[in-house]
Amino acid sequence: MNNSYGSVIWFTGLSGAGKTTTARAAEQKLRERGRQVELLDGDELRAILSKGLGFSMEDRFENVRRIAYVANLLSRNGIDVLVSAISPYRAMRAYAKEQIPGYIEVYVKCPLHVCEMRDVKGLYAKARSGEIAHFTGISDPYEEPEQPSVTLCTSSASLDENVAALMAYLDQKGVRPHGRPGKDVV
Ligand code: ADX
Repeated sequence: MNNSYGSVIWFTGLSGAGKTTTARAAEQKLRERGRQVELLDGDELRAILSKGLGFSMEDRFENVRRIAYVANLLSRNGIDVLVSAISPYRAMRAYAKEQIPGYIEVYVKCPLHVCEMRDVKGLYAKARSGEIAHFTGISDPYEEPEQPSVTLCTSSASLDENVAALMAYLDQKGVRPHGRPGKDVV
């Protein structure tokens, strides 16, 4: 039986920065290495686990509390967890770090104007027009991580480069709970 914890790789960053895209690519890479992986995506969980929560500071905290809880359930069973959630406040990320053994913070960094230009979901335009209130980066804060484990810049590096950088970090830190030394697929 494998009693080791999985790692919890927590992607934080602005909406449209590329958290989910990067997390999905990392998920694929980890699976190729024979790991059991789950992706907890803020957008998806807000339709189920966090249904009914809004975007006030309190509701965002509650959202993060629930995600951290589920991440713990999974990781304590040896599953690697990738979390993709704006998680805009330092205090909420500190909470997640405190609650989760094996927490790794990944800052998915992208200038606001680039996220806004991409506007994949059309939400920045709505935030600018006032149709959506409390929108992160526009009318609500995003507190940049001060000491993330890894920073991935999605405006200046490719997806492949960013995933490779993350994998290199995990390897360097020896974060491979299910890995068999020397036998992992690289
Ligand atoms: S968090 O702040 O609680 O961590 P989460 O990552 O779950 O946020 O959800 C963010 C997603 O909700 C965004 O990617 C966007 O699609 C959507 N969204 C809707 N309204 C807002 C808002 N006011 N601020 C940020 N994201 C919003």
